[in-house]
Amino acid sequence: MHLPSLFATVTFLLSTRTWGVAGAKTFVVPHTAGKDDAPAVRAALASYRSDSTILFQKGITYNILTPIDFGTLTNVEIAIEGNITLPAEIPVVQAIVADSSFPGHWFKIKGTNVTLRGTPDPKWGWVDAHGQAWWDAMEQTNRPHGWNFQVTDGVLKDMKLWKPIAWNFALSGGKNIRAFNNQIHAKSNSNGFPFNTDGFAAGGTNLLIEDNMIINGDDCITVGNGANGVHFRNNYCEGGHGLSIGSLGKGGQMSSVQNVLIENTVMVDELYGARFKSWTGGAGLARNITWKNITLRNVPFPIYITQNYWDQNLGPKPNSTSNSSTAIDTFNFINFVGDQEDKPYKEGTCISDPCWYYVEGATGKEVIIFDLYPGTATNVKTKNILVRPQTGAAPRVMCDPTTVTSDPGFICQNGLYRPT
Ligand SMILES: *[C@@H]1O[C@H](CO)[C@@H](O)[C@H](O)[C@H]1NC(C)=O
Ligand SMILES: *[C@@H]1O[C@H](CO)[C@@H](O)[C@H](O)[C@H]1NC(C)=O
Ligand SMILES: *[C@@H]1O[C@H](CO)[C@@H](O)[C@H](O)[C@H]1NC(C)=O
Ligand SMILES: *[C@@H]1O[C@H](CO)[C@@H](O)[C@H](O)[C@H]1NC(C)=O
Ligand SMILES: *[C@@H]1O[C@H](CO)[C@@H](O)[C@H](O)[C@H]1NC(C)=O
Ligand SMILES: *[C@@H]1O[C@H](CO)[C@@H](O)[C@H](O)[C@H]1NC(C)=O
Repeated sequence: MHLPSLFATVTFLLSTRTWGVAGAKTFVVPHTAGKDDAPAVRAALASYRSDSTILFQKGITYNILTPIDFGTLTNVEIAIEGNITLPAEIPVVQAIVADSSFPGHWFKIKGTNVTLRGTPDPKWGWVDAHGQAWWDAMEQTNRPHGWNFQVTDGVLKDMKLWKPIAWNFALSGGKNIRAFNNQIHAKSNSNGFPFNTDGFAAGGTNLLIEDNMIINGDDCITVGNGANGVHFRNNYCEGGHGLSIGSLGKGGQMSSVQNVLIENTVMVDELYGARFKSWTGGAGLARNITWKNITLRNVPFPIYITQNYWDQNLGPKPNSTSNSSTAIDTFNFINFVGDQEDKPYKEGTCISDPCWYYVEGATGKEVIIFDLYPGTATNVKTKNILVRPQTGAAPRVMCDPTTVTSDPGFICQNGLYRPT
């Protein structure tokens, strides 16, 4: 190849780089003050469903006053470099959610090779759902879910959610997704609690979720039925309900969760640290799940497994006639450090007496609670559990020896924590 043609090739590559993707087109979302900007996006999708960029520009605060179902996208990047605001009035949102045309999420994205991104610019790229008013009113009727990102080969990065009403990122059903550098800011500035503001729902295949900051009022991650290969690492979680698997097996459902690694994560003011929940009467298997190098600050339930889960908000424990639950095989809890809130406390979701998270017979100083179903749990292990009650009390455990078939790494009893 002689020099001019090499030069031409380099110039071509540089210019395509400048314009984004070769052959790609960009839709710059227009904005009209005081109007809903969503209809323009929906209309544009006919031409920008593949090989496109959909850009919410920096410098603009967009009104997304109605949901956007992006449909099935191929080779598309959605870039949110401007701010987005949802309707501020609760009844307006409720009417939309109640309507049969509501797509289930305010933003719904499916497809292959899709990037959903915000911006690293801290001033811009915020999506404000005005959740505070909902939390203050304890309004739980017709709440929208936030983002459904059910794609194959996806990137979800630099997104910033400000006061979401409830559920945030749903990756369930997705495959090969990397979600990183996202922020969820569901922190209340009053006593109104941010109910059900789950961070990531992760019932997908080959998901890598890392370097996110999740301040919320429910599970930081919830790994649901169908998950296979979920890696959650280097995240910061504050205020919520833990690093959760489940709930699985509700209403006798057959569930499968496998190959999950949750590691190098800091948990501050969370109700639970590592958590597993499956319903009495459920079926299926959760296997090969590891929580490793978890740092806890002010967490009442550092490690908590229950195969007897039920919704304590909705009434007493059902008297199940079945002796089953989703089975457990090979769970590891390794290298937990930090401190346990072991004084009487009342978390924001505690609206009943006793609280939904009340554990009969517990002293509040249990660093490990294994509420297992007989004959359904094998190879559950703990190692290096260095979490200590804040009061200086001796750490305790709850564990029924008739439910474990191998050494769980401590003496299985209702009593002091004695590592083996
Ligand atoms: C994925 O989509 C992006 C545009 O967002 C494009 O640059 C890239 O070439 C696509 N990758 C594949 C493998 O098609
Ligand atoms: C964007 O929204 C966030 C959250 O509401 C806000 O803090 C920020 O000031 C907004 N940015 C601009 C430039 O208005
Ligand atoms: C267990 O899961 C990890 C991912 O967390 C994976 O690397 C490993 O191969 C799995 N082991 C088995 C026996 O399936
Ligand atoms: C443990 O996790 C913390 C983050 O919480 C990280 O800084 C540290 O490097 C991790 N340690 C190991 C041995 O991976
Ligand atoms: C379960 O049985 C116990 C004792 O038989 C009873 O007190 C309780 O009310 C029952 N719970 C439900 C949900 O039916
Ligand atoms: C469930 O198991 C317990 C012992 O673990 C046994 O006493 C009870 O009869 C069993 N119930 C059923 C319906 O199999």
